[in-house]
Amino acid sequence: MTSADSVALSEESIDTIADGLNDAGYIIISNALSAELLNPLQNRVLKLSDRNWQQAGIGRSSSFQKNSDIRSDSLYWISTDNPIEAAYLQAMEELRSGLNRRLYMGLFDYESHFATYPKGAYYQKHVDALKGKSNRIVSTILYLNNIWQKKDGGELLLYSEQGDSVIETVKPELGTMVFFLSEKFPHEVLKASRQRYSLTGWFRVNGSESGRVDPPN
Ligand code: OGA
Ligand code: MN
Repeated sequence: MTSADSVALSEESIDTIADGLNDAGYIIISNALSAELLNPLQNRVLKLSDRNWQQAGIGRSSSFQKNSDIRSDSLYWISTDNPIEAAYLQAMEELRSGLNRRLYMGLFDYESHFATYPKGAYYQKHVDALKGKSNRIVSTILYLNNIWQKKDGGELLLYSEQGDSVIETVKPELGTMVFFLSEKFPHEVLKASRQRYSLTGWFRVNGSESGRVDPPN
């Protein structure tokens, strides 16, 4: 067995996340990841250059015009090519199998990007997955910002399933993680008045159709 402090995400945290998803459908945890993973991730995102970032909405969608109205962040998709990104993906792999073992969710893989919201950027109210239209099942967000004050704005608002009331307001502070069922919870990012960083991802089920594994779209 590995000692607890060499584990990026403890079994106890996985229990807590599974219980939250099972009971309320979401959970917010302030210190889910070990400092050994969290600090290098923060350094990594701060070191990305302008040519790494792509404006959200370009590339993956044909309706960029619409997307650029609803969000003004920029993205960088992470991969196993970088050792720090790989370590995070490994932690999420452990979470994926841990959730499957506990909740029989059949989660198949995980995709993730860093996001940066420059001063003035926002992401209007949206859901990450439309019922029956997407294979995204669980959304994850990790925040990577040092001490965040009220005047900095940029909070995440999580809405009730009906979308009519705010159930959580989350400060995007270093180490805070949010997990929620992708189809169920509308959410938005309020306008940030300072640069804001997050690492967002989705656990997906296999969208196999007529013998093809996980076709795009
Ligand atoms: C998203 C998203 C929220 C955040 O990327 O889909 O809702 O707080 N991000 O960064
Ligand atoms: Mn979202």
